[in-house]
Amino acid sequence: SEKRNFNIVVLPGDGVGPEVTKAAQRVLTCLGDIYGHTFSFTEHLIGGAAIDATGTPLPKETEAACVAADAVLLGAVGDPKYDGKPVRPEQGLLTIRKSMGLFANLRPLQVSPALSHRSPLKREIVEGTDLLVFRELTGGVYFGERTRTDTSASDLCTYTVEEIERVTRAAFKAAEQRRGKVTSVDKANVMETSRLWRETVTRIHAEEFPNVTLEHALVDSAAMHLILRPRDYDVILTENMFGDILSDEISVLGGSIGLLPSASLGSDGPGLFEPIHGSAPDIAGQDKANPIGTILSAAMMLRHSFQLEDEADSIEAAVAAVQASNQVTRDLGGELGTEAATRAIIDAIRAIH
Ligand code: NAI
Ligand code: MG
Repeated sequence: SEKRNFNIVVLPGDGVGPEVTKAAQRVLTCLGDIYGHTFSFTEHLIGGAAIDATGTPLPKETEAACVAADAVLLGAVGDPKYDGKPVRPEQGLLTIRKSMGLFANLRPLQVSPALSHRSPLKREIVEGTDLLVFRELTGGVYFGERTRTDTSASDLCTYTVEEIERVTRAAFKAAEQRRGKVTSVDKANVMETSRLWRETVTRIHAEEFPNVTLEHALVDSAAMHLILRPRDYDVILTENMFGDILSDEISVLGGSIGLLPSASLGSDGPGLFEPIHGSAPDIAGQDKANPIGTILSAAMMLRHSFQLEDEADSIEAAVAAVQASNQVTRDLGGELGTEAATRAIIDAIRAIH
């Protein structure tokens, strides 16, 4: 591919965020050296780090830099020291997703033979799992009106047809490139937003994607079936909160939440790429964080934002090679620290080229 320059805004955030974003930047820089691309990184504040420095979890200049970037790489936000405080780090992440129009959150999971014994679940159940969650990211209860009195509280869940349609189309398009199946997860037996969700998904399927197989599932039984028969799933399409919860559950299939990447995409403009885990304050600053979720998020950036397929494949092949040689971090029962794991992946990239 032709050589290009890419401006990447890095939002290290809190806890393990700075460690894992540093790891992914090192991997990107290595690939840039090999393929002749220039990846320029500019760090900005978000989350608790931003509250401490500026009083707000998302300074205006961070927001402006993200919108103007070619792509955004995020670590994680959140720290227990803000519990019970009026301004919380997590608000910065919700706001940047909304202001960048990032309505589709893609969370892939593959359980390779080399890693299937690392899962706490039975190998014969998880091995060969290859699924992709499409989580709606800018609607639903996380963005609804809130009320609070001394004795009651409410969170309003709202979806418009347009919000459901755009993430639904993205999920069906992805399914066409995969095994051609979408499982739409809702709670249509109880919730009105879910009934609108189901009607809308059914209509888009019939009108635009009749060649994709569509099944509907209720979120409670889907949570069970994901653990019992994960290989049956291809693309899972769901709303914001259900997707948040199910993707942490799904991470157990692969052995650790530290392995899972994500891409958050809008209809145009830069995407945002981050591991699905949080700031992991229990292991922050100790060289214990698994950097792979963030490194694979960088691979998703190369593929989805920069159309650099070969470069993305190189990262994924290097990660797989390191895992196959049983070099893993502590969360998977191994001994590697963040630094050593990153170095092993960089060495594997160099070995491939
Ligand atoms: P968490 O994902 O930070 O941690 C859950 C568990 O997984 C912890 O035991 C942690 O040590 C482990 N873990 C997470 N990432 C790991 C990695 N890369 N390598 C090895 N182990 C890893 O979730 P938790 O503890 O519920 O939340 C901590 C903070 O993070 C909270 O303030 C929460 O609001 C915030 N959070 C932020 C997110 C984000 O920035 N996208 C997402 C989820 C939570
Ligand atoms: Mg979550």
